[in-house]
Amino acid sequence: SLQEFEHYMLKEITEQTKSVEDTLAGRISEKGIVLPELDPLLLAGSLSKITRVHIIASGTSYHSGSIGKKVMDQLLNIPVETSYSSEFQYDHPPLDEQTLIIVLSQSGETADTLSALREAKRFQSPIIAITNTPGSTVSRKADSTVYTKAGPELAVATTKSYTCQITVLIMLAIWLAEKLGSRDLHPLPELMTELKRLPEYVDSTLIMTQDAIDQFAQVTYDQEHLFLIGRGLDYVLALEGALKLQEVAYIHADAYAAGELKHGTMALITPGVPVIALATQNQVMDKLISNIKEVKARDAFVVGITTIGDELLSEVVDQVLYIPNSHPFLMPILAAIPLQLLAYYSGTVRGHDVDRPRNLAKSLTVE
Ligand code: F6R
Repeated sequence: SLQEFEHYMLKEITEQTKSVEDTLAGRISEKGIVLPELDPLLLAGSLSKITRVHIIASGTSYHSGSIGKKVMDQLLNIPVETSYSSEFQYDHPPLDEQTLIIVLSQSGETADTLSALREAKRFQSPIIAITNTPGSTVSRKADSTVYTKAGPELAVATTKSYTCQITVLIMLAIWLAEKLGSRDLHPLPELMTELKRLPEYVDSTLIMTQDAIDQFAQVTYDQEHLFLIGRGLDYVLALEGALKLQEVAYIHADAYAAGELKHGTMALITPGVPVIALATQNQVMDKLISNIKEVKARDAFVVGITTIGDELLSEVVDQVLYIPNSHPFLMPILAAIPLQLLAYYSGTVRGHDVDRPRNLAKSLTVE
């Protein structure tokens, strides 16, 4: 019940252990990923002909879609595109019955996403919906629906649906790799083992970060500007962290691919400016550390988020926050949690109505 929590947003952030567990339930077997919802597409033969994938969504759902793209880029042999729903129909991307469309929408009613879906249907593209709302328009218009099992989400800012969307996208990426062929099936068993443990990792992340983030928010609450940087999956995570801080805390937060700062934005890095460096992707750690040194040289205040056991980051940042260490594809789920908490605590300490931010609505029924 809400009684234990002051706001729905905090309740929903805290519920993520269960929502991720429910979303995984029954979908991982010894043989692979089990998604019977997609059988009709398989039986119709529409998947065997697929030559590309196009992921479409708005806002936070677009960010989970972008994580899905980066994971699919590494697992599948075919190109994967992403579009904002609101841009999709005006971009005129190549569409046909060989393009698999994946639409993501928590509510299943976002007008921009419904228009994009209608456009894809004109070209007979097979459509998979990922939504949290049974019976929603998106689920009725798509050929197949894979549900996130986050349960009702009442705070305007989406939190638990986002981590469940990424969970579904990773399962779908494995499923597609199994059905369509993969670059390299070698990493899949390890990924499956870690997926099964995901609820445990989510739980530990909540325990490890909640108090530290609460304290950090008390220090940074009066900052007007904040930067988030990362590379690879951490860059997409930075985009989502920035959106949450804008939406709930009304902080002008901006996300950059860490290597891009030197191409212009570095001019905005002044002494004391808070920079959150997301460092969960080992293969880009060295490059990220060089980028952190660049902002430290301008006296930014850098908080790093990295995995337990890391020894490199702590030497170059002002403060480190540790989260559990899992498969790189799963890290955007875990690292999203401290960023959601930061938006929540910054919003409350600034006195905002975090469950109902100004100028926003839960379900956007106009384009
Ligand atoms: C941000 C947020 C929005 C939604 C977006 C799409 O916290 O909630 O950016 O993600 O409006 O909504 P759905 O997923 O319902 O289509």
